[in-house]
Amino acid sequence: MILEDLKIPNLEIDILEANERIGGRIWTHHFSDRTHAYYDVGAMRFPDIKSMARTFKLFDTVSAPLRDYYLNGVNTPTLFNSRFHQPDVSDPYEISVSKGGNVPDDVVDSWSDILEAAFERYKKVLRVDWEAGYKLLMDEADHMSTRQFLANGGPKGELRKLDYFSIQWMETQNTATGLFDQAFSESVIDSLDFESKIDGKSVEWKCVEGGTTVVIEGMRDYLKKTNIEIKKRVVSIERDLSRLDEADMLLQISGEDKPREGYSTVFATAPLGCLARMNLNNLDLHPSTRDAIRCLKYDDSVKIAIQFTRPWWRQESKITKGGVANTDLSIRVCVYPSYNTEDPIDQPAVLLVSYTWSQDAIRVASLLNAGPEAEQELIDFVLRDIGRLHSQTITEEAIRETFAGIWHGHSWSNDPYSSGAFALFGPGQFSNLYPYLIRPAADCKFHIVGEAASSHHAWIAGSLDSAYYAVAKFLKRFGLDQQYLPKIKEKWGVLHDLDAGVHGSLHVVNLLGTLSEGEHVRV
Ligand code: PHE
Repeated sequence: MILEDLKIPNLEIDILEANERIGGRIWTHHFSDRTHAYYDVGAMRFPDIKSMARTFKLFDTVSAPLRDYYLNGVNTPTLFNSRFHQPDVSDPYEISVSKGGNVPDDVVDSWSDILEAAFERYKKVLRVDWEAGYKLLMDEADHMSTRQFLANGGPKGELRKLDYFSIQWMETQNTATGLFDQAFSESVIDSLDFESKIDGKSVEWKCVEGGTTVVIEGMRDYLKKTNIEIKKRVVSIERDLSRLDEADMLLQISGEDKPREGYSTVFATAPLGCLARMNLNNLDLHPSTRDAIRCLKYDDSVKIAIQFTRPWWRQESKITKGGVANTDLSIRVCVYPSYNTEDPIDQPAVLLVSYTWSQDAIRVASLLNAGPEAEQELIDFVLRDIGRLHSQTITEEAIRETFAGIWHGHSWSNDPYSSGAFALFGPGQFSNLYPYLIRPAADCKFHIVGEAASSHHAWIAGSLDSAYYAVAKFLKRFGLDQQYLPKIKEKWGVLHDLDAGVHGSLHVVNLLGTLSEGEHVRV
């Protein structure tokens, strides 16, 4: 869309999609044609904050109908260590040292303040000046995992050094199992995206009425000249060095006799696990670009949704405003949809019974698409966990009575078209490998694009930033930037980093992208 909007004369665009549907990790599954009989298997919720402004611009451009998304609802249960949260009770889960557990008494109730204090040094700069905050984060702390940062009291050891069980408790409360072993930088950026208040104002979250696929349909209809083909899996991206003109890029598509020729630029938007399986041999990639494609860490994610015969959570459990329930049970997070809160109470309704990441997701995924017995086990444990989580307000039997066998689940790691859920870098990867991921190659005609190639992993906003950046590199490469970049800026705003960012200005990045194998330099 960014490219087509520019109306560059004689520019033709093909979109080649391997899957039988377009949209990638934007995908709404419909149980039936009834209103709201769906759930978003992928992107589902969007904070209306500065760093996501381009997402909202996109929604606006395709006239996607938005509605409020309740990040935190009312009456949502929280269950850890087999105990429910109780307001105004210290250590309701009884995991502190004085109640027989291992978590220090002065950490148990104040874990989030301690964690916030660790993030704040970076967040306060990132909020006002993204580039400066990002640089500080990279210079000081990117080499550390969140666990290391907390254990060492930060890179300089000036904060409180937390013990194993404190960190363990913080991870359990804050995120998925094992994620504190990934980059501290990711934790800081995530925490910014999930902030409830900015400048004293509550952050509004939105979702798309009808599911996020509505945006994809809008994008498809918006494109007038772009040719979209599905079921076209690219197996090789090459350069034909015998060709003397600029259009020397070739694409081999699985099942086609000969490569498609005549491309002057390739924007590779496949997730890195899929890109890694393509032949990229003669693109003059820097060795660390090859490493980046192979090594940059992706997280796992699974969603399981059930269509119950009626929304018992709104009736018996009085969860009337959407939101989430957190637990240490295997389902980990239950999301009450924000789009069906006003629907008739005696009609079927969808509940996202489990939304997991990381090791939690890998474990749920082991039961998905593994035959009828495994699926029976999956449904059984999910209903049991859901029953336990809501046992204060409804019995498991009553919930089971509303289960009519209608469910759907998806593991993004076990999906051949994603091979992972979203990028979530490990320690040191942002500072060392990311600059090579966003460096073009093949005489600056090959660009890696997508949320992984951005600093907003796991958000549409990241994909848009990356697309904008790639188009800018393309324009620069063909001497079109003076004429067309202002047009992009006018519609999509200013992209931080573009001219004088920490990754070098556009012309430097592009110059590096023209180097052949053996000529590469470290900058
Ligand atoms: N954007 C996704 C979500 O809202 C994935 C994500 C998870 C992003 C955790 C950041 C942190 O759930």
